[in-house]
Amino acid sequence: MEKFNYSIPTRVYFGKGQLAHLSELKNYGNKVLLVYGGGSIKRSGLYDDVLAIMKEHKIKVQELSGVEPNPHIDTVRRGVSICKSQGVDMVLAVGGGSTIDCAKVVAAGACYDQDAWDLVIDSEKITKTLPIFTVLTLSATGSEMDRVAVISDPSIPDKVGTHADGLFPTMSILDPTYTYSVSARQTAAGTADMMSHTMENYFTNVPAADVQAGFCESILKTCIKYGPIAIANPKDYDARANLMWCGSLAINGILSYGAPVKWCVHPMEHELSAYYDVTHGEGLAVLTPVWMEYVLDHYAPAKKKLAQFGRNVWGIVNQDDAIAAREAIEKLKEFFFETLRLPKNLRELGIEDKSKIEAMAERAAKGCQGAFMELTKEDVKTILERAF
Ligand code: NZQ
Ligand code: ZN
Repeated sequence: MEKFNYSIPTRVYFGKGQLAHLSELKNYGNKVLLVYGGGSIKRSGLYDDVLAIMKEHKIKVQELSGVEPNPHIDTVRRGVSICKSQGVDMVLAVGGGSTIDCAKVVAAGACYDQDAWDLVIDSEKITKTLPIFTVLTLSATGSEMDRVAVISDPSIPDKVGTHADGLFPTMSILDPTYTYSVSARQTAAGTADMMSHTMENYFTNVPAADVQAGFCESILKTCIKYGPIAIANPKDYDARANLMWCGSLAINGILSYGAPVKWCVHPMEHELSAYYDVTHGEGLAVLTPVWMEYVLDHYAPAKKKLAQFGRNVWGIVNQDDAIAAREAIEKLKEFFFETLRLPKNLRELGIEDKSKIEAMAERAAKGCQGAFMELTKEDVKTILERAF
C-alpha cells in the first residue's frame, strides 16, 4: 500500500427526510443559485420542497435550469453570468451527476475572471469556488461526494474532466426516495457507472492493498444484488439506498487511497460521449468487457487479478486462473447485457460510423498513461473496433 493523505470533506446527510438540512445554507449567505436539469425535479415535487425551505429561511433563489445530460460549457457560462450579475453566495444542485458537475464549475467560474472553459481544461486554475451544495436524485457518478466535474464542449467536440479540492460539495443530501422515479434505463446505466468506477479502482498494480480490494468487491456484489431489484421494483428502499451509497463510495477516494491507478475505460467513454452524446454508463458497459478481454490477452498480471475478481465477486470456483478470468468476463457481460439489458455494443448505442476512431484513440490513449495496463493509441483503436 502506498502513502496517502485522507480528506473527504463533504458532509453527507443520508436517508429519508434529510432535506430539512438545507436550512444550513443560511450559514453561507442569503442568495443561492439553484441548478437543475430538464424537469424531473418539478415532476417529483422536490423543486417545490426546496423552494419552500429557501423561503422559510429567507434565502433568495436564482435559477439555472435545463442542464443537459453530458452538460455543456455554454450552460455553465450562463450560470456563471447569473452568479456574477446577481451577487450569488452559493450554488445548490438538485439532480444527477450532470446537474452537479455543471453546478461545480459554475461555482468555480463565479470566482474566476476569465472564461469557465479554462477551468475545465486546466484544473490548476481552480483556486476558489463558491460553496457547493447538492441534493442527489440519481445514483451513478458519485459527484455528490467527489472533487470531479465533467463538462462537454460540443463545438470542438470535447468532453473533459476537471478536479480540484474546491469542487468537493460542502454538503450533500442523499435521500434514496428521490431516486424512486429514475427510469429502468437510467438505473441500469447508473449501476454500470458505479461498477465501472469500482472496477477502475480495483484493477491497480499496487500490491497488498487488500482492504481497498475488499471494499471494491463488497461494492460490486452490492450493485449486482440490488441493481436488478431497483429495476424490478423502483420503490424498494433498501435497493435504492444501497445503490446510492455504493455510488458515493465508488469514487470519493476511499477505494483509491493507498492504491492509486489512472482510470482507463473512462477516457475512452468520454470520447464516445464527446462525439456521439451517449449515456455515460451505457458507454462504459459496452467498453468494460472489451477492455478486460484485451488486457487479459496483452498484460500478464491481468490474469491473476481477473481470476480474483471472478472468485471474490462472481463466486467462480475454478482454480485455473486463465479459466476463472474468462468466466469472470462472461459473468460481467451476462449481468450488463442480459440482467440489466444495457446496450451490448456501439451499434446498439446508435454509433454506426467508424470515422472518428483515429481521433478518439489519439486523445483517449493520453488519458491512459499510468493505467493498470498503459494503452497506446493502437491498443485503444483495437478496443474501439472490437466494441462495434
Ligand atoms: O435533467 P432531468 O430532468 O433531471 O432528468 C435526468 C436526465 O435526463 C434524469 N433524472 C435524474 N434524476 C432523476 C431523473 N429522472 C427521473 N427521476 C429522477 N430522480 O436522468 C437523466 C440523466 O441524468 P444525468 O445527470 O445526466 O445522469 P448521471 O448522474 O449519470 O450523470 C452523467 C454525467 O456525469 C459525468 C458523466 O460523464 C455525465 O456527463 N460523470 C461525472 C463524474 C464525476 N463528477 O465524478 C464521474 C463519472 O465517471 C462521469 O464521467
Ligand atoms: Zn463514470
